[in-house]
Amino acid sequence: MAGIEVVDTITAFRARLDQVRRDAGTVGLVPTMGFLHEGHGSLMERAALECDLAAATIFVNPLQFAAGEDLAAYPRDLPRDLERCEEAGVGIVLVPEVTEMYPQPVITTVSVPALAAGMEGASRPTHFDGVATVVAKLFAIAGPCRAYFGEKDFQQLAIVRRMASDLSFPVEVVGCPIVREADGLAMSSRNVYLSPEERVAALVIHRALQAGADAVTAGERDPGAVIALVSSMIDAEPLADLDYVELIDPSTMVRATVVDRELRLLAAARVGTPRLLDNVAVSGPERDVDPSAADGPGRAR
Ligand code: PAJ
Repeated sequence: MAGIEVVDTITAFRARLDQVRRDAGTVGLVPTMGFLHEGHGSLMERAALECDLAAATIFVNPLQFAAGEDLAAYPRDLPRDLERCEEAGVGIVLVPEVTEMYPQPVITTVSVPALAAGMEGASRPTHFDGVATVVAKLFAIAGPCRAYFGEKDFQQLAIVRRMASDLSFPVEVVGCPIVREADGLAMSSRNVYLSPEERVAALVIHRALQAGADAVTAGERDPGAVIALVSSMIDAEPLADLDYVELIDPSTMVRATVVDRELRLLAAARVGTPRLLDNVAVSGPERDVDPSAADGPGRAR
């Protein structure tokens, strides 16, 4: 097996991917901002398993950070990241400088406002334009491929999926389950900012979401009641500063009016320095519902 190839130019990355496709191979793309953990590892391993070439990118994208956010402080460890990529079976990694990705001021941007307004977008109004723009660029650079994204960033996944479809990128977006620490904390590059006490306090987010999901399993059908339960649990943790709890239809990102199908329960809270995100799927016990009335994106609008 050839070792991992590390390139810093778009041209070199594109040339290798083009070559693989010319040889009738398939490409799996895994965009990241580095400081890789097992969550990223799961995406890369899946890409390596399902495609002939797993291609990762490591780029801390300035466009998706607002002034005052943690762009300069974003954790970095390239040697360790490259080891992780290699262990996961990645064949090529693009590690571009900012000047390679953005040689001139960016005046063409991509936005998906209908999916980006709420939740993360409400707290970080310019964030998803930055994400959609860099991911569109990475899709244009990579060409036809499967692209792997984590459900950890659930709203980002929905935005990327819709953007790829609306703009006809030859990319199949694949959503991958959240990888957690043994105690339930969703893995995140930003967990490194947590002090030992905050690390313990941060567990409340997943615990509260799980309690919300359990309430639904036990028969709760009122989204407001589920949201209130989860919010009160997170609010009770002094080190956690709750941003939002939402129970949404995953296809529209709009709050459900009743729990009658599989929904997503999401929360964001600041614990010490970092804002942490997490989410779980919720679905009530099977029951008789009129399928024509229960489904379809129009219903929750
Ligand atoms: P980053 O935060 O580095 O995450 C890269 C990918 O790893 C994303 O698809 C994210 O959802 C996934 N991921 C992170 N933690 C995970 C976990 N615990 N389990 C499963 N998947 C996880 O998300 C970004 O970078 C950027 O916004 C990017 C898409 C690269 C655009 O700049």
